Amino acid sequence: MEDIFKRLPEHTCGWLANKLTLYKYQDFWAVKQLHEGGILAQQSFKAEPSDVFLCSFPKTGTTWLKSLAFAIVSRAKFDESSSPLLTNLVHECVPFLEREIDKIEENHKKSNFPLVATHLPYSLLPESILASDCKIVYIYRNTKDVIVSFYHFMREAVKLSMEDAPFQEAFEEFCEGICSSGPYWDHILGYWKASLERPERILFLKYEDLKRDPASNVKRLAEFIGYPFSADEEKAGVVDNIVSLCSFENLSNLEVNKSGKRKAGSLENRLYFRKGKDGDWKNYFTDEMKEKIDKIMDEKLSGTGLVLN
Ligand code: A3P
Repeated sequence: MEDIFKRLPEHTCGWLANKLTLYKYQDFWAVKQLHEGGILAQQSFKAEPSDVFLCSFPKTGTTWLKSLAFAIVSRAKFDESSSPLLTNLVHECVPFLEREIDKIEENHKKSNFPLVATHLPYSLLPESILASDCKIVYIYRNTKDVIVSFYHFMREAVKLSMEDAPFQEAFEEFCEGICSSGPYWDHILGYWKASLERPERILFLKYEDLKRDPASNVKRLAEFIGYPFSADEEKAGVVDNIVSLCSFENLSNLEVNKSGKRKAGSLENRLYFRKGKDGDWKNYFTDEMKEKIDKIMDEKLSGTGLVLN
């Protein structure tokens, strides 16, 4: 495996005080450990027909999607007062394919827990997923908010202040496609094109739509992944309870998410809950920056039928 990395394009992020090095493997940038995890998954992961894949580019709403899907599939066992989400960061409840393949294999053997998350681009998904009929849910988000969210997450992860991590430089790198799992446009387009070919298999959910109308989108999500709400459940308020349980206001105020740490590594759970707002980019972007990224996205997405601002 080590040999692969010697031959790959490499980039050290200056705006993060050189504390992060990314490698470009098969057109996508990521840290070595994630590429290794992706390659291992490609070599050995066997999807089960009941698996549901929650796919995303980082900072587009992964934590929210995982929480909602977890609450949906586990609602027969737990309600809003007993949910493991109240005492665990959701990333400890729903494993990432490129990080926790053992946990997923254990779930396959020991339980019928169907959820698997990944930041892998569509083109790098293991063949056993591509060839399956498993459901895939892809969450995406306004590019400018992704950039701001990404900026804060990364700089806090390496413990840099805003003064020491210039936003403008982070922005320029993102525009060149350089960031973990980037380029963003290629990540979205991989899933988008696949969803046009097999719409019954891939659901596209937009962060901003979830914000605007969480209940309808939660119903859509539940139905799509094969866990639809019954009329009785709807009447009993189960959908609204899941929406409230997984709301930013609720999750971000839980002790575990305010002061806990990841079990592996040293990341603080609070980094996954910053503002949870639509449009925070307006506090960071100059007119020139807005124009530049809008133009890039328009060009990259032109003719694809996907509109994203
Ligand atoms: P901000 O940095 O804009 O606040 P990811 O989960 O893909 O890493 O994305 C993190 C982003 O989703 C952060 O955005 C975070 O605050 C937001 N987020 C986390 N949980 C959320 C929730 N329950 N509802 C809405 N947004 C949420």
